[in-house]
Amino acid sequence: MVVKVAANAGFCFGVSRAVKSVYRELDAGNKVYTFGPITHNETVVEELKKRGVNIISDVGEASKLENAVVIIRSHGVSKEIFDSLSAMPGIRVLDSTCEFVKKIHRIVEKESASGKHIIILGDRDHPEIRGICGWCPGPYTVIDDEEKARNFSICISTRITLVAQTTFNHKKFEQIVDILVGMGYNVNVVDTICNATEVRQRETLSLARCSDAMLVIGDRNSSNTRKLYEISVGECNNTYYIQTLADMDFKKLKSFRCVGITAGASTPKTIIKEVQEAMEENFEQMLEDSFRTIHNGEVVDGTVISVKDDQIILNIGYKADGIITRSDYTNDPSLDLTTVVKEGDTMQVKVIKVNDGEGQVQLSYRKLAAERGSKVLQDAFDNKTVLKAKVVQILGGGICT
Ligand code: F3S
Repeated sequence: MVVKVAANAGFCFGVSRAVKSVYRELDAGNKVYTFGPITHNETVVEELKKRGVNIISDVGEASKLENAVVIIRSHGVSKEIFDSLSAMPGIRVLDSTCEFVKKIHRIVEKESASGKHIIILGDRDHPEIRGICGWCPGPYTVIDDEEKARNFSICISTRITLVAQTTFNHKKFEQIVDILVGMGYNVNVVDTICNATEVRQRETLSLARCSDAMLVIGDRNSSNTRKLYEISVGECNNTYYIQTLADMDFKKLKSFRCVGITAGASTPKTIIKEVQEAMEENFEQMLEDSFRTIHNGEVVDGTVISVKDDQIILNIGYKADGIITRSDYTNDPSLDLTTVVKEGDTMQVKVIKVNDGEGQVQLSYRKLAAERGSKVLQDAFDNKTVLKAKVVQILGGGICT
């Protein structure tokens, strides 16, 4: 298997700087608090928590601190929060707002003060956007998609300055700008999308185009990782979103020859390296370890991966797939199995033979159903329970139910 890692996968300059500042303060023996999680990555946050770093989420909490360092993360905060924290006597504020985000703060503050209406492209619930909004002394609008851009309405003579969240998708940015300009608005467009994001997105796109499968590594809460996933899955259907090596399903990757790895700006290099090494050096072993063991006679759960008129192939989590022939499914020799089972269905089956001679596991649905039916009859007999049944055939000497 060939494994290719995107050159710019993982921590960007801004996140790396913020995380380093936390470690520096810890190493200096200071009591460290971060205003919100320092990065959108659970692993990093947990590790810092173990070293005594606490997260505070509002100014009220900060006001109770004494002799502490409060670190503002790379997303930045609103002017109001920044000023309040800076005025508190019990804390020292370490501003790790990314330089690219600070630049947006300066732009919107200046443009808004000069009477412009500010349009911010991005996710209104993202901390970076909440922070940017808080640097606008005048009116602003947050737009996150083309539809909202089309519905935007303001006096046509209003002067507008448009900025974007640093991780905003560049294509979407251009489309929204085109919509607003097409509506006749006088827009001063400032492209504030971070170059690191753009480079990472471009790399992901080209890697996904030439890979059989892609692994996108990052926290579920990381918006830039989610965007990488969207970009990747648009080019490569076999794209998997994982947070750490523990989420990897080696079975899913077993048949791919070339696997690409990309990671969001909040993913530490250590996690990427761990995944890469597992793929390159220990893949066979980890694949082997991830398979269950099975025995003849065992009842297993399986998922249908293909159906023909006379056989069903199941994934049973074993290194070989399982096969149910028509006679192991039903006693009707003319039944077309595609009419009763479809891909993705799950079913319980009995293992007849672990290796049927062709590397597959022979399974039986019919045998399991018969055994379960016999058990119902035995229990009814033992408990003297009366059963109801449908007559399916009348024979000379009796009836079949
Ligand atoms: Fe800054 Fe760009 Fe990272 S804005 S925080 S360097 S993605």
